[in-house]
Amino acid sequence: MAALELHQIRKEYDGNVVLNDINLHIENGELLVLLGPSGCGKSTLLRMIAGLDDISSGELRIDGRLANHLPPAKRQLAMVFQSYALYPHMSVFDNMAFSLKMAGNSAAQIREKVHAAAETLQISHLLDRLPKALSGGQRQRVAIGRAIVREPSVFLFDEPLSNLDASLRGQMRVELARLHKKLGATMIYVTHDQVEAMTLGQRIVVLNQGKIEQLGTPAQLYRTPASLFVARFLGMPAINCFSAQLMSSDGPVLRIGGHFLLRSPVVFTSSLNDVLTVAVRPEHMRLTADTDYEMVMFSATVTVTEQLGDCTLLYLQVPWQEECIAVRDAQCQSWQTGQTVGVYFDAEHCLLFDAAGQRIAP
Ligand SMILES: Nc1ncnc2c1ncn2[C@@H]1O[C@H](COP(=O)(O)OP(=O)(O)OP(=O)(O)O)[C@@H](O)[C@H]1O
Ligand SMILES: [Mg+2]
Repeated sequence: MAALELHQIRKEYDGNVVLNDINLHIENGELLVLLGPSGCGKSTLLRMIAGLDDISSGELRIDGRLANHLPPAKRQLAMVFQSYALYPHMSVFDNMAFSLKMAGNSAAQIREKVHAAAETLQISHLLDRLPKALSGGQRQRVAIGRAIVREPSVFLFDEPLSNLDASLRGQMRVELARLHKKLGATMIYVTHDQVEAMTLGQRIVVLNQGKIEQLGTPAQLYRTPASLFVARFLGMPAINCFSAQLMSSDGPVLRIGGHFLLRSPVVFTSSLNDVLTVAVRPEHMRLTADTDYEMVMFSATVTVTEQLGDCTLLYLQVPWQEECIAVRDAQCQSWQTGQTVGVYFDAEHCLLFDAAGQRIAP
């Protein structure tokens, strides 16, 4: 186990800044997820921690020791990539034993370590097979096994599950969480999949264009996103956004789409001309067939319904904006495409963002 400290880390490629002002403290034994869209710098950050890429400026400390120029082999880290690149002509056992042989371990030590790792990963029965005789999930486990036998202080995972189908990904996710508990090792896990991030991460770092947007627990990021970017990135379907303006500079009443009024749950100051954003999660939107119902804020037309078994997802067209809104109906009532419905939500459940996309309230 090891703690990592990143202080003002910056990375440039030929004058292009791809990571800037990255400050992070990763606790001993923590499972930290790096989440962000393609190209935001996730792999670059991981590669710099592994020592596979230079750090342009800033400090990386592993267990308090400056590690910027420490060779990869001396960092006590093991990295697992998306493409697991097993040696095709070697058995599972030999694939897992390779680095131990290179490090000069005895045959007995190697046997013990490989068998212990195989047991943890539940692949003991596969040790004699060649990689081509394994399923994708089994190959991925062998790749993780190669990392485990080295007993690293820190595991670095770069989208290790993205080659697997949805159900296998779910299963491997659970196994990785179990593995983390069992080994107690520090893990940094890169993904662009918000579900993976939310279910695996003890804390999540959201990266956007080379900068940290927010760092927090899954619940903090979901409930109190620091920015519209984070609010939109987490949650399926995505959070519903409405443009809003203040009715008067001293009052907390917002006008949305020129149509309905909303009393903000908090008082804040903003210029009358500012275009603010009110955002509401699909599970907090309420529907009624009775459009005269006193709670109704506005009417909308049902365009698509998706029955998911435990809930129904509805996509609704509202009169003042092109973008549909999504509603999660946990009661699974029967709604018809083309039907006009009344929509309302509790002001307590809306998030308010300023013109720059930073959260004002709550
Ligand atoms: N060797 C390189 N030379 C120049 N630019 C690079 C190099 N490697 C990465 N980049 C650039 O740095 C940025 C970050 O790349 P990186 O691979 O870290 O993104 P990522 O978040 O891992 O994306 P993905 O989810 O697609 O894997 C990108 O704009 C990329 O084009
Ligand atoms: Mg990447």
